[in-house]
Amino acid sequence: MSLPRHLAIIMDGNGRWAEERSLPRVEGHRIGALAVHRTVRSCRELGIGYLTLYAFSAQNWARPSEEVGALMQLLLDYIHRERREILDNDIRLKTIGDTDNLPSFVRLPLRALISESANNRGMVLTLALSYGGREELVRAARTLAFQVDQGERLPDDIDAEAFEAALYTSGQPDPDLLIRTSGEERISNFLLWQLAYTELHFVPVCWPDFDREHLDFALRRFATRERRFGKTSAQVSEPPTGPRTTSDLEEPPC
Ligand code: FPP
Repeated sequence: MSLPRHLAIIMDGNGRWAEERSLPRVEGHRIGALAVHRTVRSCRELGIGYLTLYAFSAQNWARPSEEVGALMQLLLDYIHRERREILDNDIRLKTIGDTDNLPSFVRLPLRALISESANNRGMVLTLALSYGGREELVRAARTLAFQVDQGERLPDDIDAEAFEAALYTSGQPDPDLLIRTSGEERISNFLLWQLAYTELHFVPVCWPDFDREHLDFALRRFATRERRFGKTSAQVSEPPTGPRTTSDLEEPPC
């Protein structure tokens, strides 16, 4: 089965998951962190090379301060709790986003684990933190404008490759598959440049309930997609690998 080299996930629905159970929203985030743990483990076992998780958007700073504070604490707990898991499993941790905005009690241990894991090669786990796609594009445009201003390049030299090099994700393959949980079907300012040819998969369960069955289903569906990148079906070389049985394409229960 053809696996995505790079899987990106919008982990949505923590708040609704909690509210449906009359629990505080933060409880949804706490259980959501457990879903992060099992998803990272599954992707590593499967041999997915890059996993990018939308953990905290640039816009999430506008949430009530108690929720922002709780998310920062959960992030810190995650870094401490998963440190051994990340290092023992040859996972390289990275971030995208304006991480200078993170409180130092998160930023410093996060940076320490990023550098501790920098030589790992098994999988790249990228956490999008204080991240916004538009903000990333503006930042890239500013970088390129600065290079022109400094005489380092001509405006005519700015092409897609130069733009890509100015993004947080420079050097990484674009996501092959994007999964969004919670039933919402939108991109929400995530990886706006990088998702140009990404296959999209929307899951009707909230993130805390996302499990291996949902992941496997998304991967089986992905394996049936014909990716044409603007070419014709006849031009694309590999014939799509179909499901073994039709039940392989039945959605797991919500
Ligand atoms: C979206 O659900 C989720 C977030 C804004 C935060 C995601 C955080 C985690 C999964 C846990 C901490 C992360 C790590 C990496 C340990 P929502 O709150 O917008 O849900 P709603 O749409 O139902 O309100």
